[in-house]
Amino acid sequence: MNDLSKRLNGRKPKTAIILGSSLGSIADAVKNPLVIPYTELSGFPVPRISGHAGQLVAGEIGGKEVAVLAGRAHPYETGNAGVMRPAIEMLKAAGIETLIVTNAAGSLKPEMRPGAIMLITDHINYSGMNPLIGQHGDENFVPMTDAYDPALRARFLKAAEAEGVPLHQGVYCWYSGPSFETPAEIRMFQIIGGTAVGMSTVPETILARRYGLKVAGLSVITNLAAGIEGASPSHEETKREGAKAAENMTKLITRFLSEA
Ligand code: HPA
Repeated sequence: MNDLSKRLNGRKPKTAIILGSSLGSIADAVKNPLVIPYTELSGFPVPRISGHAGQLVAGEIGGKEVAVLAGRAHPYETGNAGVMRPAIEMLKAAGIETLIVTNAAGSLKPEMRPGAIMLITDHINYSGMNPLIGQHGDENFVPMTDAYDPALRARFLKAAEAEGVPLHQGVYCWYSGPSFETPAEIRMFQIIGGTAVGMSTVPETILARRYGLKVAGLSVITNLAAGIEGASPSHEETKREGAKAAENMTKLITRFLSEA
């Protein structure tokens, strides 16, 4: 039995949710919370950047058992693209079947404004990294077609309609960070088919698919990406706008879970 299964004390969540920058308040929606610091889960990374806590909160949202990961580590913190691998592996071993990944992202579309939420339909890995590099075995040749599960996406669209929360859809581009993109890079992402850009999520999706978890992804748009209407993104703006949109994100996730 791994650390997480032990610490869950008989709870059996099937869904885990990774919270993006400044979406920490989603963890406040957890009923009967059992808080487990990452430091007590071997291999869980301790996030080093502001806007990210470092604890797992188990409990219920929308009447369903969940494990909420408040805080993630990013490959740009250490150069290790597989930094979330032990955590995803442990979630799988503890019985998690579905992973909801959330993030803060910059918009590549002027009409998708700060505060909007985007359901990820697909991604472009522009980081030059992959969390499975160095892993051996045929199971690492992971198919990435429908990586963002179509049935889960349909459920989020229904939940959005029921809650009256506008939900955009699009392609998330992973940029390594931690510097933001140049306006020229943003023009490139627009040309190659991106809808939003950010510094996370893709590694966790690849890892989750590797371990057979179903994935859904949601981006909170915190800014227009560099150069669009003169935008100049900052971490402060990401945290501020992310916190504002967290309420809509909580509604969406609560409805998604309650109607499962
Ligand atoms: N670029 C990359 N990551 C981000 C952005 C952005 O504009 N906004 C929030 N996270």
